[in-house]
Amino acid sequence: MDQQKYVLSFYIKNGVKTDMKRIGVLTSGGDAPGMNAAIRAVVRKAIYHEMEVYGIYQGYSGLINGNIKKLELGSVGDIIQRGGTMLYSARCEEFKTKEGQAKGIEQLKKHGIEGLVVIGGDGSYRGAKALTEQGFPCVGVPGTIDNDIPGTEYTIGFDTAINTVINAIDRIRDTATSHERTFIVEVMGRDAGDIALWTGLAGGAETILIPEEKFEMKEIIKRLERGQERGKKHSIIIIAEGVCSAVEFASQLKEMANLETRVSVLGHIQRGGSPTAFDRVLASRLGSRAVELLMEGKGGRAVGIERNQLVDYDIIEILSKPHKVNMDMYKLSTELSI
Ligand code: F6P
Repeated sequence: MDQQKYVLSFYIKNGVKTDMKRIGVLTSGGDAPGMNAAIRAVVRKAIYHEMEVYGIYQGYSGLINGNIKKLELGSVGDIIQRGGTMLYSARCEEFKTKEGQAKGIEQLKKHGIEGLVVIGGDGSYRGAKALTEQGFPCVGVPGTIDNDIPGTEYTIGFDTAINTVINAIDRIRDTATSHERTFIVEVMGRDAGDIALWTGLAGGAETILIPEEKFEMKEIIKRLERGQERGKKHSIIIIAEGVCSAVEFASQLKEMANLETRVSVLGHIQRGGSPTAFDRVLASRLGSRAVELLMEGKGGRAVGIERNQLVDYDIIEILSKPHKVNMDMYKLSTELSI
């Protein structure tokens, strides 16, 4: 009888049957507002289900170096509203090698960690995929301001970043109007145009340039001239960093159309700040789901949100799919900015 009680308490952890006793969590790649809310969700969900959680500091580089500490309920208090990541982040070349990955697995085993939640973008997912392929269960949580992870409509941090950008555009528009100027605003997005597209549409930009769509300089000049003929005295052009630098674009405009412009590169401002309610809720839901998957013994998954429902996909498949920018929205933005 006593023996049976012991077995039950060992496997049923607050209503969920699991063998998992100890999990790890790390953040990697470019930080994103809401990562802290995701860490909090992972830690609290795991502790709620009577598991232990270890924080791996400085992403995969901290994993290789064994920078690993136990997290308690209080370790994640007062962080839901903070930008950045309390676990720090890094981009780690060594973890791309088999030797680096082996060192990482050794550290996980040494600390008795049986499953890992990886919060980050596509580079972080690649690390999680490598661990998964070597038999270590990992679940990916999409955390990047770029919104460029397949298998989810939104990534953690995107909403905060676009609100930061829109704030900046509104301010730039004030001065652009006063001085009757054309501004070129460069936003982040090396391969993905989501930040440019959403903020361009929300900010009423005259032109939006994204890496996914080719553009003709002559067309842009014609557009600007058409506006001027109609009496339009100022314009905002949003350019994603993956297209070309705003400075380079401005010098091309000067050269081809003798057009005087001002450039504003928003840079890493876009990555900071307190997460919006949307990002906090998204992070809480995705972080918690990642723990559930590990508890269910489902490693090698990536969680996401589609039509407000939590989903999860094979992380290996996710990485083979291209991210698609919403071309209907792109078309709409050109229609509305005539
Ligand atoms: O992946 C997020 C991102 O902010 C990209 O938009 C940007 O190109 C890149 O990170 C910048 O990286 P770093 O922090 O290394 O300058």
